[in-house]
Amino acid sequence: MLLTSTWGEGEMPDNAATFWSQLNQNGTSPSLAGLRYSVLALGDLNYGDTFCQAGRMIDARLAELGAERVTDRVDCDVDFDLPARQWSSVTFAALNGSKATTPSPSTEEESTEFSKENPFPAALIANVRLNRAESSKDTRHIALSLSGSGLDYEVGDALGVFVQNHPAVVDDIIARHGFDPDAVVTLPDGAESPLRAALIGHYDCRKHYGITPSNSVPLSDWMESLRKLQPRLYSIASSLKSHPEEVHLCVSAVRYEVDGIQHQGVASTFLADRLKNGETTGVFVHKAAHFRLPSDPATPIIMVGPGTGIAPFRSFLEERQAIGASGRNWLFFGDQRRHWDYLYGEELDAWQQDGFLTRLDLAFSRDQAEKIYVQTRMIEQGAELWSWLEDGAHFYVCGDASRMAKDVDAALHQIIEQHGHRSADAAKEYVAILKKSKRYARDVY
Ligand SMILES: Cc1cc2nc3c(=O)[nH]c(=O)nc-3n(C[C@H](O)[C@H](O)[C@H](O)COP(=O)(O)OP(=O)(O)OC[C@H]3O[C@@H](n4cnc5c(N)ncnc54)[C@H](O)[C@@H]3O)c2cc1C
Ligand SMILES: NC(=O)c1ccc[n+]([C@@H]2O[C@H](COP(=O)([O-])OP(=O)(O)OC[C@H]3O[C@@H](n4cnc5c(N)ncnc54)[C@H](OP(=O)(O)O)[C@@H]3O)[C@@H](O)[C@H]2O)c1
Ligand SMILES: Cc1cc2nc3c(=O)[nH]c(=O)nc-3n(C[C@H](O)[C@H](O)[C@H](O)COP(=O)(O)O)c2cc1C
Repeated sequence: MLLTSTWGEGEMPDNAATFWSQLNQNGTSPSLAGLRYSVLALGDLNYGDTFCQAGRMIDARLAELGAERVTDRVDCDVDFDLPARQWSSVTFAALNGSKATTPSPSTEEESTEFSKENPFPAALIANVRLNRAESSKDTRHIALSLSGSGLDYEVGDALGVFVQNHPAVVDDIIARHGFDPDAVVTLPDGAESPLRAALIGHYDCRKHYGITPSNSVPLSDWMESLRKLQPRLYSIASSLKSHPEEVHLCVSAVRYEVDGIQHQGVASTFLADRLKNGETTGVFVHKAAHFRLPSDPATPIIMVGPGTGIAPFRSFLEERQAIGASGRNWLFFGDQRRHWDYLYGEELDAWQQDGFLTRLDLAFSRDQAEKIYVQTRMIEQGAELWSWLEDGAHFYVCGDASRMAKDVDAALHQIIEQHGHRSADAAKEYVAILKKSKRYARDVY
């Protein structure tokens, strides 16, 4: 039984990369005749053509190599709980020759603990803009209270946050369609609600904003086309040891213009602009078992986190300081301009000055004519970075997936080739071993 999510643009997640390359070795791929399998693919329909692509590729490749598919692949959108449990029950029975049982409700649903199904209403206790007023960016330090929740998180985890659409966006959509804001509609959980409240709190309306419908659509048909509003994930930026009963986030407010219309990211601007101090929003802890500090506190760590990618590294540093970890800490941080965008600059400078942050390399991309990025600094410090890796350092990357994480990965390969005196293939092998031994971990989005 194989389960995989899809990452990047239709790519394998890091923990499936070695498996996938073994299935595709030129000319030496194994025959899998006699192997019985089934694939559960996790994905998100918002990704369009690459929906569940990793699962689809694994499913097709195993069949191509002669394995026998015992039950059809199931492709899951973000609400995967029920289809996943149905697939598991049917596939387990098919593999064992037993009868499939009807999946019981998940234990999470029965539990009284706070979870995605039963989010904790966390009150906003701080919302601080981390960029100076002159900056084109708007990144917020958000602190939420977990008091009374019993919620426990580990550094490296993300926080799931339930959010609301902007009321003005909803009003615009209702008016353009000529709907009655008080018309009674059905919510995703089957309950009934007036249309306006349903759209603010429960449905993803983004694709309808600022667009005049070409012909009138009955409300019931239109409602059918809507997807449920999903919670968003944010990397946790604090350690419970430094901030008991609190969770901190570093959130970049998404604002952009298309065809003269101003758009706002639903969740990031809900947190930045609309949630007021003392008001609550539902949260849950999203475990990130792949993104953990080394178990031995003496192990050195290298962290690469430009922009909001700094978030988990603030939590790592707080945690390592709180437990008195003796391992060396090296951070690469970057953003557009030092004077405007040095997120958590005072904390980082203080950690560097007292020697806890062994090395701090900064890359401000727009303070000079040519772009300087975190990978520029990595390459400049390549010999030292190589020696840390050889000393057993863990290497972490967080932040933008589409460009930064790929370029940092390329820089890492370049450093291993140059300073480790290895061929391109041997550098790839070195990186594969780092990943396999959980010494190269990424939290990118
Ligand atoms: C594991 C994980 C950790 C994360 N950690 C953090 C974090 O620490 N901090 C953080 O800020 N975010 C983080 N994110 C991202 C976060 O979850 C949200 O995706 C982000 O805040 C945007 O959500 P939103 O609801 O504000 O925007 P949405 O309403 O979802 O809008 C975003 C969409 O708008 C469109 N868009 C955005 N910019 C433009 C543009 N310039 N032109 C045209 N279209 C555009 C794109 O389609 C984009 O997908 C993380 C994501 C994951 C998966
Ligand atoms: N879809 C996209 O194209 C895109 C791109 C970036 C970020 N985002 C998203 O925007 C949100 C907020 O971003 P953020 O505030 O965390 O910061 P960010 O936009 O990632 O920027 C942080 C720093 O990284 C630099 N940068 C740009 N391209 C880079 C690259 N290829 N390699 C290394 N560094 C690079 C930026 O420089 P410059 O700005 O000067 O180039 C800036 O100095 C995140 O959700 C992120 O995923 C989306
Ligand atoms: C950076 C990033 C890229 C993603 N790319 C895709 C994609 O191309 N296709 C898709 O179907 N899902 C994509 N997803 C959605 C994930 O596959 C989905 O959320 C999955 O449930 C994640 O499971 P995990 O958190 O256990 O890794 C992407 C998610 C992220 C954060």
